[in-house]
Amino acid sequence: MMDGFGFPASAGHYRFRAESGIVKRLLRDVDPKGEVLDLGCGVGYWAEAFAQRFSSVVAVEGSGALYQALEERCAPYPNIRPVLGNVLSFEPEGYHRVVFLGGLLMYLDEEHVTALLRRLVTHLEPGGIILCRESTVRGKTERRGGDYPVVYRSVQDYRRIFKQCGLTVRQSERNEPYVLMQIGCELIKKWKGLVPEPFQMLGIVGPLAYWAMRLGNPWINHLFKALGISFPKLENHFFVLEPEAS
Ligand SMILES: C[S@@+](CC[C@H](N)C(=O)[O-])C[C@H]1O[C@@H](n2cnc3c(N)ncnc32)[C@H](O)[C@@H]1O
Repeated sequence: MMDGFGFPASAGHYRFRAESGIVKRLLRDVDPKGEVLDLGCGVGYWAEAFAQRFSSVVAVEGSGALYQALEERCAPYPNIRPVLGNVLSFEPEGYHRVVFLGGLLMYLDEEHVTALLRRLVTHLEPGGIILCRESTVRGKTERRGGDYPVVYRSVQDYRRIFKQCGLTVRQSERNEPYVLMQIGCELIKKWKGLVPEPFQMLGIVGPLAYWAMRLGNPWINHLFKALGISFPKLENHFFVLEPEAS
C-alpha cells in the first residue's frame, strides 16, 4: 500500500506496531489456549505475532513467492504450520478460536466471500471469533480492474454480507493507523498529479508527508472528521465477528 510514495521503510513498522496494539485489545478476552487460522497471511507478520500469544497458528498463503518468506519467518516457531494454497479450496481441520482475515476479502468476489465465511463459521470453537481487518471505501462499493483487481466494499456492504453468512458484528472500529498512512498516500498521489515528475522530489516530499502524519497524529484524522471532509476515500476497518446466536 505504501510503495512509491517516498515514505521511509520505518512507515510499515510503525503501522504494524500501532495495529498490533489494536489487535491485542480486540483479542484481550480470548483464551490463548487455542488455534488461530490466518488466511491470506502474506509473509506472516501477523502469524508470528499470534504464535507468540496463542497455542498454535495455521497460516495459509496463496502466492509462492510470499510463501517462501513466510516459511523463513515461521522457522523459529514450531507452533506455526505454514500452508501454501488457495483459501477458497483450503479445508480447515478441527475448530479454531480465532480466524484472522487480514486484507483478504478485497481480493474475492462476493460469492467467494460468502462461501468462505459460511465454511469458516462451521470451524469456530464455541466462543470463537473471526477477526477481519479489511480495506473499505466511503460511499458505494468500488470494483477496480486492471493490474490490481480488487473490490473495495463499503462498511454497510460488509455488514450485509456478514449478516447473510450468519455472523454478528460484535465490535467494529476504523483502523486509525492505516487511515493515517492512507491520508499520506492520497496526499502524495495528489502531489504527483499536480507536479511534473522531474520536480516531484519524492525523496524529500515523501518523508516530510510521513512525518507530518506522524506528528499530527491523532489530530489529522480528527480534523478531517470535524470539518466533515470525506478524506481519505479508502479506509480500513476491524470487524470482530461471532456466529449469530441460534
Ligand atoms: C493485502 S495482503 C495481506 C497479508 C497479511 N494478511 C497482512 O495483513 O499483512 C493479502 C494476502 O492475501 C493473499 N491472497 C489473496 N487471495 C488469496 C487466495 N485466494 N488464497 C490464498 N491467499 C490469497 C495474497 O497473496 C496476499 O498475501
